[in-house]
Amino acid sequence: MLNKILDQMKIVFGDDSRRIKHALDVLKCASFLCDSEYPAGTEIKKTVELAAVLHDIGIKQAEALYNSSAPAYQHLEGPPIARSILKKTGLAEDTIERVCHIIGNHHLKSKIDGMDFQILWEADLLVNLPDFPVLNRDFKTYEKMVFNNFKTGTGAQAALDLHGRNS
Ligand SMILES: [Fe+2]
Repeated sequence: MLNKILDQMKIVFGDDSRRIKHALDVLKCASFLCDSEYPAGTEIKKTVELAAVLHDIGIKQAEALYNSSAPAYQHLEGPPIARSILKKTGLAEDTIERVCHIIGNHHLKSKIDGMDFQILWEADLLVNLPDFPVLNRDFKTYEKMVFNNFKTGTGAQAALDLHGRNS
């Protein structure tokens, strides 16, 4: 089932291999966090993986309609596209709505309202951290950012490990 969603994501992103790679990287990271934090077969993993693959799915439409990839436009355009993809899968309605809720708020830390959303937040951040200036700040500043953003032990450790700690 996840493979079908991956195919749909690739169709939406077309020749934008950077976005496809990002979705795959976030999926890999999110799966790792779920496996580390929860027993095998946990329900949360399904929601997290679907959200990971589709979290940025509104970005093309946002750029096409508003000439902007600002979070507000992604949050507006992502859920309807995700819903139309997920509706074809036979997934339970509440799972579909939960995934769409996460996609529709995924840039807003203040909107995190469950561990599924939290893990998506951590996975997206872990994948993006190498490009963020905070990675080059002193370790104390960096550590503060980590503790403000990571709730899972696995995610926090992975984030801390990214910092060279030599400054
Ligand atoms: Fe992302």
